[in-house]
Amino acid sequence: MTFNIGLGVTGGIAAYKAVEVLRLLQKAGCDVTVAMTRHATEFVQPLTFRALTDRHVIVDDYDPANPDPIAHINFSQNIDLLLIVPATANIIAKFANGVADDFLSSTYLATTAPVIIAPAMNVTMWEQPATQRNVEQLRADGVHFVDPVAGELACKTVGTGKLEDVENIVSQALRLLNAKTQRGKDAKADLAGEKLLITVGGTREAIDPVRFISNHSSGKMGFALAAAAADRAASVTVVAGVTTVEPPSNVNVIRAVSAEQMHEAVMKELPSATIFVGAAAVADYAPANAADAKIKKEGRDTMTLELKKTPDILADVSRNRHDGLMVVGFAAETNDVVGYARSKMEKKGLDIVVANDITKEGAGFNTDTNIATIITHTTETELPLISKRELGDRILDEVIRLRQGQSITN
Ligand code: PMT
Repeated sequence: MTFNIGLGVTGGIAAYKAVEVLRLLQKAGCDVTVAMTRHATEFVQPLTFRALTDRHVIVDDYDPANPDPIAHINFSQNIDLLLIVPATANIIAKFANGVADDFLSSTYLATTAPVIIAPAMNVTMWEQPATQRNVEQLRADGVHFVDPVAGELACKTVGTGKLEDVENIVSQALRLLNAKTQRGKDAKADLAGEKLLITVGGTREAIDPVRFISNHSSGKMGFALAAAAADRAASVTVVAGVTTVEPPSNVNVIRAVSAEQMHEAVMKELPSATIFVGAAAVADYAPANAADAKIKKEGRDTMTLELKKTPDILADVSRNRHDGLMVVGFAAETNDVVGYARSKMEKKGLDIVVANDITKEGAGFNTDTNIATIITHTTETELPLISKRELGDRILDEVIRLRQGQSITN
C-alpha cells in the first residue's frame, strides 16, 4: 500500500536531515509532498526537495508560483500522515496553541491525519517549561513525538535536543501508518454486542456532613475508556464517583458518591454486563461512624478517626462473575508497579490488570495522558506515554484478543 506523507520541514540546523528522511520514505514506497517554513528555506533550498519529489515545495500559500490556490486545505486532506522533521520550539508552540499564520501551521490545523513531530533544538530551549508544556499539550491532543536524543548539539553544547536518527524516525512513521491501516481493516465495530460496565472517578467517604476522605481521581481515564468502547459499538454504562470532567455523551451514567454506593450500583448492573472495568480510585477505608452533625473542633488538639474497610468492588465482581464476563482492573502504584499489579491480578481474580505508575510525569491522576503496562496471565505490554483515549483503545484491543482466545478454546 502506498502512503501519502506530508513532510513538514522547519527552520533548524537539522533541516538537512529531512532530505534523508524523504529518501528513506521514498525507498519504503511512500509518496511524499514537502512543505517548508520560510526559516527552513534559510537552511535548505526548496529546490533540493523539488528535485527529489518532482513536485512544487510549498512554503507560502499566497506565492503566485504555488499552483494550488488553497494549498493548505488540499495538502492537509490528502495525506495519511503529517511528519515534521525537524520541529523547532516555535512550530511546536504554534501547533499547541492553534496559531495558523503560515502554510505549515495552517496545514496542521486543517488535517485529520495523524501527526508525528521530531523536534531538534538547543537543550535549554527543549527543556524550557514553555516548550515542555506545549509538548505535553500536543501529546494530550493525540500528537506523536519522536523525542530528541542526547548528544553534542550544533551550538556545541551537550544535552538532549539532537534529532533522533533518521532511520528511527522513518521506522516509527511506518509503524504508525501500518497500525492505522490494520485498525482500519478491522473496522471499529469490533465491540458490537458487548456491554461494558466501568467504574470511574474517585469516591468520597463522609466524616461528617461537611468533611470527607477522597483522592485525586478526575475521571479522565475511565471516561476515555468508556468513549473508546462506545465508539467501537459497545453499549456502555459507567458508574461514576466524583469526577472533574464531563462524561462522554454516548454512554449511560449512574452516579455514586461513596464506595458503598458504587458497590451497590455495580452489583445491580453486573448481571447484564459482559465486560467489567474497574478504573475508579475507590477509597479503601471509610470512617467507621460518620457523624450526623458537624464535628466541632473546640477543646480538641488532635482527633482520631476510626476507619473501616470499604467493600472491594472489583474483587466482588470477580467472585460473582457469570459465564463470559471479562474482568479488568487497574493498579495505581508508586513502586514495584508490575509486581504489585500482578499480585492484585491473582488476588482479585482478574483477566487483565492495567498498571500505572502514578509517580511518573504525565501518568496517573488528572492528566490527559498515561504510562501503563497491560498485564494478562501470559503477556505484559509496556506502553509509552500515550493519551488516555489511546490507552483505552489498547486495553480494549487486549480484551478482544483474549475473547478470541476464549472462543478458540471453547
Ligand atoms: O481518574 P483519573 O484522574 O484519570 O486517574 C486515573 C486513575 C489513576 C484513577 C486510574 O488510572 C487508576 O489507576 N485507577 C485505579 C486506582 C486504584 O484505586 O487502584 P488500586 O490499586 O487501589 O485498586 C486496584 C483496583 O481495585 C482498581 O481497579 C480499583 O478500581 C479496584 N478497587 C479498589 C478498592 C475498592 N474498594 N474497590 C475496588 O474496586
